[in-house]
Amino acid sequence: MKVVSLILRAIVDLVFLVFPARFFYGKNRAGFVFLSNPRNIHDLYTKYPFLKHFNESITKRALRYMWPFAVAKVYGLNSLDKKHVSGWIFGISLTAEEILKDKTRARKKIKQAIRLAENYGLRVVGLGGYTSSVTDISEMSKYIDPILTSGSTYTAVVSAESVADIVLKYKKNLENINIAIVGATGSVGKIFTHILLSKNARRVRIFSKTLENLERLHKELIKEHPSKDISYSVDLSNLSSFDLIVLATNAPSALIQAGHLKGGAIVYDISQPKNISQNVVVARPDCFFFEGGLVRQPSSIRYHFDFKLNGGSIFGCMAETMIIAAAEFDKGLVKEGDRAYVELLRDAGFALGFTPYYYELNTHGNPR
Ligand SMILES: NC(=O)c1ccc[n+]([C@@H]2O[C@H](COP(=O)([O-])OP(=O)(O)OC[C@H]3O[C@@H](n4cnc5c(N)ncnc54)[C@H](OP(=O)(O)O)[C@@H]3O)[C@@H](O)[C@H]2O)c1
Repeated sequence: MKVVSLILRAIVDLVFLVFPARFFYGKNRAGFVFLSNPRNIHDLYTKYPFLKHFNESITKRALRYMWPFAVAKVYGLNSLDKKHVSGWIFGISLTAEEILKDKTRARKKIKQAIRLAENYGLRVVGLGGYTSSVTDISEMSKYIDPILTSGSTYTAVVSAESVADIVLKYKKNLENINIAIVGATGSVGKIFTHILLSKNARRVRIFSKTLENLERLHKELIKEHPSKDISYSVDLSNLSSFDLIVLATNAPSALIQAGHLKGGAIVYDISQPKNISQNVVVARPDCFFFEGGLVRQPSSIRYHFDFKLNGGSIFGCMAETMIIAAAEFDKGLVKEGDRAYVELLRDAGFALGFTPYYYELNTHGNPR
């Protein structure tokens, strides 16, 4: 049955890629689409189990030629004045690794997905998963009608709030602990670092892969937060002196080794796929590992798509897409990382019923 509905949906969306759906549905539809990609082949098998019957490399090769299509409709999102906001989840069939391996192919599919969203008449397009990592959003926004978002701002907002809450729970104070932010030069990492330094964090070391990016960000941070102790490094084996480690890289597999961590360290992982492997969680029962970048959505929201997240939570980037649509932000307001935009999102998210969410992982990878 799933195979038949998948084929039908894909055919409908192939038609919609060519003919705007507003020919069928009428003009001036509002709403949003959240574009996602499978983290790995297992995500695809979860949604479409019949694919397991085929050879893995043939499946991956065939899916490279698949156009983007709607994988689920989102119900139950209401605007502040209680009007229904329509929404969809679209998928592109490239895994995180394939997107990084062939960025040109990935960008072509992302553009197709945006065209499909435009043809559906949707006003907001959220680039989830790795689709934002390979898209120059501010450049692309100049040429298209819908509002584009990476969702990085709200992800950083809820992550900073969650981290502050976790630190407090362990009776520690952001002001007195050594904090490492890995992937600080990225879209989420940079906004997160700014927000945390604007709270009372004082000793922060930023990490990434590229030294020049770190040097540039370091200068910017020192200028904006002159009273703070901010340093940088590309060497992850330096992590063993930190009380709090926040991970926000786009590395396609786990980065952190068990030997990297100080006893009692708190590790908060925003990355998808995760930067912490289950082996490290098992090997270091003396540390505390948290799944981050998450949001609890209003209970009215429903869709048939399993992001494999706990407790009815969603990714911060999907929440940002929904908030922009439901709060009816104008395109000009949506400025990634902008301070006024950070405040607007936080307030609108709260008013719409979105709240920061995190959970501690046990040794089986489930919530503790
Ligand atoms: N929960 C959510 O809603 C949500 C939302 C958005 C993103 N995310 C996840 O958050 C992560 C970051 O996303 P993003 O959009 O910020 O990515 P991004 O802009 O592409 O930035 C990636 C960052 O990772 C660093 N990096 C890559 N490989 C590294 C390595 N081996 N060692 C150290 N640093 C490394 C990069 O450093 P350089 O480029 O400086 O070398 C850069 O700082 C991704 O995993 C993404 O899936 C989650």
